[in-house]
Amino acid sequence: MTGVVELPGDKSISHRYAILAALAEGKSEIINYASAADCRSTLECMRRLGAQVEIASDRVRITGAGLDGLQEPRKTLDAENSGSTMRMLSGVLAGQRFNSTISGDDSLRKRPMRRVVEPLTQMGASIKTQEGGRAPLEIHGSRLRAIDYTTPIPSAQVKSAVLLAGLYAEGETIVRESVATRDHTESALREFGARVESIDDARQANKGRAMRIYPRPKLVARQLLVPGDLSGAVFLIATALILPESSLVLHNVGLNPTRARVLDFLVSIGGKINIPSVQLRDGELVGDVSISHSDLMGGTIAGKQVAEMIDELPMLAALGPFTEQGIEIHDAQELRVKESDRIATIATGLRAMGASVEEFPDGMRVAGKWGGKLRGAKVESHGDHRIAMALSVAALGAQGDTTIRDAECVGVSFPEFFSTLEKLRGAAV
Ligand code: S3P
Repeated sequence: MTGVVELPGDKSISHRYAILAALAEGKSEIINYASAADCRSTLECMRRLGAQVEIASDRVRITGAGLDGLQEPRKTLDAENSGSTMRMLSGVLAGQRFNSTISGDDSLRKRPMRRVVEPLTQMGASIKTQEGGRAPLEIHGSRLRAIDYTTPIPSAQVKSAVLLAGLYAEGETIVRESVATRDHTESALREFGARVESIDDARQANKGRAMRIYPRPKLVARQLLVPGDLSGAVFLIATALILPESSLVLHNVGLNPTRARVLDFLVSIGGKINIPSVQLRDGELVGDVSISHSDLMGGTIAGKQVAEMIDELPMLAALGPFTEQGIEIHDAQELRVKESDRIATIATGLRAMGASVEEFPDGMRVAGKWGGKLRGAKVESHGDHRIAMALSVAALGAQGDTTIRDAECVGVSFPEFFSTLEKLRGAAV
């Protein structure tokens, strides 16, 4: 596989820019806005809340309503498949003077929402959930008070929900986390003019990170460029690593250190990955990444690495059969409450292709090359975009054809995934 690829915009960053542009005063322009369906869901929600949204190819222009200008939506807000939309927007909705309901598709309505309801309730919002703390969430906006909150599990979405609610709180809101999760919300808030500080008190020494947000900033419209999506790129990177004679260059990839640990891990197991230079643009690190075919040793992912590479774990599992020693994952029970139970769905798919996989409650062990070569099979994506892409990587390295059911779900994060692979590989997909 050889070629040069320009990636679609980062999904996580696009959500944040869309939400903050809608809360800012004036017209923002977001360049290289993600083509991901999840980010369209966020745009649609912001439109229903009164922001003006114009979409022109990869640019989105949003005329913000101002911090206090959002309007009560006439209908239920639909986050569709997007956990980020539902959880982060809940933080904004909690601070409004109106009530709103936010729901999503079958997968999202099964996912845990108590993790945002809990801190937002402590801040003074009243949120009604369905049984088991699931969506739809009926959010009664209130005057919010500031809290000092430690996230019980590392989650950038929960941290972001509290920080966004902190925009509306009386007083300074603090969020502490044991592992530094992706910090795009903090960067984006600063880009739009909010004051967010990192707290370096003793409690934080070697124990993750804490942030303080000051309320009621004047958010100002911006022109911002979204870097290429590293979490989508990793599926192309993995394909290049395992296919002989590959040489791939990815342009303008987002390399925020809270996202790029996966590259460090791949290099540590023998991946030939080079990043000649990086630049800081609009608060985010961006650079080109070159990858060539490599002999991979395999290794173990556990502890804080899990939160740092949470979206990449299905793909790393799928690399297992192409490594010497296989891939082992521990401490990743959070994977069970993603768009699918990712431990079960990736294990089932890889086993169908002949891999030897042992499942644990919090992870799995995927045997290396000694477990035998993968063969093509009929496998299921379970409607989960990252499972469909991880199984595609395995399929490209397998002998024979693979059929992935519901593979179109890749559109949730990377609609151009299959066409990009086709361009890079000729007509092999
Ligand atoms: C995301 C945070 C992560 C990640 C998700 C996107 C974000 O979720 O899995 O795909 O953009 O903040 P958690 O916050 O639940 O770990």
